[in-house]
Amino acid sequence: LTVIIQGFGAVGAHASRILKERIPEAKVIGISDLEGYLYNENGLTVEELFGLWKNFGLVTNKYFKDKVAPEGYKHPTKFSTNANNLLLENAFCMVPAAPIFNYLGVRSSDEASMLVDRMGKWAVIIEGANTYSPDPNRRAARTRMEQIVYGEKGVMIANDYLVNSGGVIFAAQEHIIKTPENLQIPDEMLGNREAVEKWLKDHEDDFAKLSKQRLIAGEEYRENVIHRNMIELVDLLASNPDMLPCTA
Ligand SMILES: NC(=O)c1ccc[n+]([C@@H]2O[C@H](COP(=O)([O-])OP(=O)(O)OC[C@H]3O[C@@H](n4cnc5c(N)ncnc54)[C@H](O)[C@@H]3O)[C@@H](O)[C@H]2O)c1
Repeated sequence: LTVIIQGFGAVGAHASRILKERIPEAKVIGISDLEGYLYNENGLTVEELFGLWKNFGLVTNKYFKDKVAPEGYKHPTKFSTNANNLLLENAFCMVPAAPIFNYLGVRSSDEASMLVDRMGKWAVIIEGANTYSPDPNRRAARTRMEQIVYGEKGVMIANDYLVNSGGVIFAAQEHIIKTPENLQIPDEMLGNREAVEKWLKDHEDDFAKLSKQRLIAGEEYRENVIHRNMIELVDLLASNPDMLPCTA
């Protein structure tokens, strides 16, 4: 299982760390940041790069200068200052994790990181980055991109709202019913695992009540959202059947 990650920041660095912990045989073969990209078909040293990110923020150029350049071509890792060209590389999985929503585009006017006819061969894209834009032009560009990448090339796309659904669900719960002040973990307890666990146990019944209220309110909210989305989808398809991301 090979992975390339566009943007080695909070999302990209932690994604690579967690991937290594959970699937040790997985190989992160390419990463990029604002200064360029690193590629090693045998797998990059994720722990080392994670440490560089923690200490210095940007990692690709630093790793090149400190580790690759002294050994020259003998070093198995290649570096390029063109960060976008990471998306030319083949991998099982591509993770967009840079603050860019149009990582792939069909036309040069889409101003994407890479054109779909030049992208590497991937089986799946896992969107760590937020890729949604309400701008109608961006939405049309996104649909064009999906029609080719998913509809024609058959690359599965796990959308941002699915990948980040844990955060989205938590934010939605807060939006529907805010956590009351008496159920917010006191600041002075943060960092003290034992104290927090005891505090949570002591407030167990109140949390159970809050979660029941949120479930009822959430189900009602969901019905309204589904209704609204279905109307929007039907209107969209009625206006242009080509908007379907794939042909059955
Ligand atoms: N931090 C979060 O909790 C979180 C959660 C979900 C989604 N997101 C989304 O993920 C994306 C990244 O967020 P983050 O918190 O990791 O940001 P970050 O600033 O920590 O990291 C972004 C990384 O992308 C790199 N980058 C910027 N432009 C690039 C380019 N053109 N090509 C390659 N790399 C580039 C930067 O150098 C940096 O390494 C954003 O879209 C953000 O909205 C963040």
